[in-house]
Amino acid sequence: MKATLALPSDDKRWRMVNATMRRHGYSSSALIEALHTVQQAFGYLDETALQYVAKSLRVPLSRVYGVATFYNHFMMKPGGTHTCVVCLGTACYIKGSPQILETLEKRLAIRKGQTTPDGKLSLMVAHCVGMCWLAPVVMLDDDVQAEATPAQAATKIQEWVSK
Ligand code: FES
Repeated sequence: MKATLALPSDDKRWRMVNATMRRHGYSSSALIEALHTVQQAFGYLDETALQYVAKSLRVPLSRVYGVATFYNHFMMKPGGTHTCVVCLGTACYIKGSPQILETLEKRLAIRKGQTTPDGKLSLMVAHCVGMCWLAPVVMLDDDVQAEATPAQAATKIQEWVSK
C-alpha cells in the first residue's frame, strides 16, 4: 500500500474519498469508484478532486479527465451535458490557450465555469491536464484536441451545441 497524500482540505468528505482509495490499496483500478465517491460526497467533480485522485492512485491526470468526462454519470461542475476543458497550464498558455478560451467564451456567450442556458455545454478550465507535449490542449468530453486553434475548437463546439 502506498503512502497517503495530504487531503486537499479539512473538509471531512475527503476522508470518505481517501477511505475508498485506501480500501483498494490505492490501486489504479479504484479510479472509477474513487470518482464515484467524490461525486456522492460533493455532488460533482472539480479540478481539485481530479488532481487529488490522480496523485493518490498514480494515474495520469489526462486519464482521470478522460474517465470523468466520458461517463455521463459524472458531473463536472456546473454540469452541462457536454464538458469542454481548456487547459491554461504553462505549456498550453504559452501556445495560445487563452485565445482559445476567449473565442469560446464569445461564441458561447458564457464565461469559464459556466454552462450554456440550454444546459448542453459547460466551459471549464484546467491547469495542466497532463499532455503538455500536445499543447495547446482542449478536451471535449473524452476527446482530446491536440495543438488546438481557436477556430478549430469553436467549430467543434458549434457542432455540439447545435445538435
Ligand atoms: S499545460 Fe496544458 S497539458 Fe500541460
